[in-house]
Amino acid sequence: MENKLTLFKVIAGGPLKVTGPFRIKGRDGKIIEKEEPVLLCRCGHSSNKPFCDGSHKRNAFSE
Ligand code: FES
Repeated sequence: MENKLTLFKVIAGGPLKVTGPFRIKGRDGKIIEKEEPVLLCRCGHSSNKPFCDGSHKRNAFSE
């Protein structure tokens, strides 16, 4: 992975948008490595955690 800055942007009432290279270690211990923009769930309602699946829209998430 190239060494460049990663941008984390909070989307009001929605997910955290991550742009740039990063790795996430899931509960199962698997490492997910991404470079393209992804949306991470902040509301806790996604059925595809850690990624946003749009469920925040149906659950009145406002932070
Ligand atoms: S922020 Fe979108 S499903 Fe949780």
